[in-house]
Formats: sequence, structure tokens, C-alpha cells
Amino acid sequence: MSILSETHKIVTLNEFIINSQKGFDFATGELSGLLHHIGLAAKIVNREVNKAGLVGILGAAGSNNVHGEDVQRLDIFANLHFHKAMRNSEFCGGIASEEDDDCVIYEGERARNAKYVVCIDPLDGSSNIDVNVSIGTIFGIYRRISPVGQPCVEKDFLQPGNQLVAAGYIIYGSSTMMVYTTGTRVNGFTLDPSIGEFCLSHPDIKTPLQGSIYSINESYQSQFSDGVNRYLAYCKEIEPFTGRPYNSRYIGSMVADVHRNLIKGGIFAYPATKDNPQGKLRLLYECNPLAFIVEKAGGMATDGKNRILDIQPTNLHQRLPTYLGSTAMVRKAMQFVQGEE
Ligand code: AHG
Ligand code: MN
Ligand code: MN
Repeated sequence: MSILSETHKIVTLNEFIINSQKGFDFATGELSGLLHHIGLAAKIVNREVNKAGLVGILGAAGSNNVHGEDVQRLDIFANLHFHKAMRNSEFCGGIASEEDDDCVIYEGERARNAKYVVCIDPLDGSSNIDVNVSIGTIFGIYRRISPVGQPCVEKDFLQPGNQLVAAGYIIYGSSTMMVYTTGTRVNGFTLDPSIGEFCLSHPDIKTPLQGSIYSINESYQSQFSDGVNRYLAYCKEIEPFTGRPYNSRYIGSMVADVHRNLIKGGIFAYPATKDNPQGKLRLLYECNPLAFIVEKAGGMATDGKNRILDIQPTNLHQRLPTYLGSTAMVRKAMQFVQGEE
């Protein structure tokens, strides 16, 4: 006879969400409901991502497949299913998505009474879909500032990241994971495909203060500022006592690059370039949620000068230069960017 030790207890995402809610006396279960529905949409998108390699057999995007159904691009599919999940949750008043020009405000009494709005990049790293490389979803949840009982308005989405109630990402990688925080700990859940459940696998993630990975698209070197290029030279210098040269790792899916660096320690940067003086990444649904997670795990996130989470957004799709990851590495990069090194 063997006795199962308590350390083998499986905690599913939904069990975890419900248990976490019990810690808040006045919690109404609405945020829990939203997170549950995000987990559900993630499983639907995951199912489709897993079939992406079969596109040649099932039909290319824009065509009809063998079943006579329209084949959608995966980013459009992901957008649709996160919309459906948020709408069905009845706890979300609207979404600002990378895939929609304007914010989408939900209609109906439940949506008017909903407390939360969501900013989302439904599919991040879309250039990696066709080649079987990790992609992701990024989301941030805010409490609305317009009065409950009326339809949400654009300013509900234009809140600084320091107002986030919860943020997270899903990585569709060698395994599929959901990582999220409601402002205290950062927890990671791995999807067990055999039971179709996200299971707690990475409790209380803390990122190392100093890492040895730098992640940046160096092909833009001729377009970077002198400060950024001096920092890149610093990363490659031989200085064994400080662990340099650092290791270069760049997937081209922000979620995957940030996830790896969060676990192992490192810096992810997408600086301003001559062609894109504001960089490429979007404040509302790429940088803010990931900055929130990185900070809650003990790291740091800046635009080279300012804390990302303190930036007041003025536009749903605004971009910003981005430096985030291990605190000591981000601090050092900022010194170079600001011309102090
Ligand atoms: P998306 O697929 O949502 O448009 O985002 C892609 C982003 C980000 O994930 C990644 O870090 C970056 O684009 C890569 O850009 P470069 O190809 O310019 O390096
Ligand atoms: Mn993206
Ligand atoms: Mn995207």
C-alpha cells in the first residue's frame, strides 16, 4: 500500500482562482469569472495553434477547408474567441484589441453593469505561426472608470498600467502555459492536454536580479542610438567576473522572449529605431501587462527613461521603446540609453 504525499496534489487553474478569491472578503467573483473565461479561450486557441502545421491539408487562410468552412488567419481566430469568451463571461464591458482599430464596447444590460475592461494582444508573434515557433496571448484587466450602468467608453482603456487589476499571458510553446498575477504573486499553470486543464506548475515566480541573456533584434543596429549600440557592445564584452559576454537569445515573439527571461534572468529590449522612433511594441496590450508581471516577479520595466506602468496612454495603439527584465540589467541598459555610460 502506498500513501500519496500532499506534495503531489494537482491544483487546477480554476481551483486556484476560486481559492484566491476566498482571501478577499468583498470579492464578488467577477474577476474570477473573467480569468476562468480567459483560460477557456486559451484552450480553444491552443487547439487551433496545434493544428497550424496542418494548414496545407486543411486549407490555407482565406480559403474554404475540406469541411466547407472558412479558414481564418490564426490571429483573427484568436481575436474572435477571446471576444466571445469575454462577452459570454458577462463580467467584461468591452475590449481594446490589437486586431481592432477601435475599442469594442459590448451591448446589453450585463455588459453595462460589468466592472472590468480588457486590453489584449490575442496572438503575439504572428510571424512565427507558420514555422512552429512559440507564440502567445497577452492580456491586461482594468476596473472601468466610467460609471457602472452605462456602456464603457474609450477612457476606460486609456489607464496607466499602475491601475491594472490583473495581467497575464498564455504561451503556446513546447507546452502551453498561462502565467498571471492579480497584483501579488505571479503564478504559472501548464496545460495538461490529457485532462484539458491548466495545472499549477510554477508557483510564485521570481525573476533573478541579474541574468545572463540579452534579447534584442540586432539587425536594427544601424538604426539604434549610440547609447543602445554601446550597451550592445557592453553585453558582448569579455568580463568573466560579471558573467559577460551575455548570451544572445531572440525568438521574435515577445511573450516567449519575456517568459524565458523571466524564468532564467535576462533583459528584453525593443528600442527606438530611425524608422520607428517610438519602437514597435504597443503600450496597452503588450508592454503594460508584461511590465506588470515582470515587476511583480521582482524585475523592472522602462521605456529607457520612465517606468512603463506610470505612462499615461493617450491612444489605444500607442507604441513605446521597451526595456524589461532583471532589475540590475535594465538599470545598466538605462544608463547607456541615457548617455551616462
Ligand atoms: P504581433 O505578432 O502581435 O504583431 O507582435 C510581434 C512583436 C513581438 O511579439 C516581437 O517581439 C516583435 O514584434 C518582433 O519584431 P521584429 O521582427 O521587428 O524583431
Ligand atoms: Mn504582439
Ligand atoms: Mn498580435
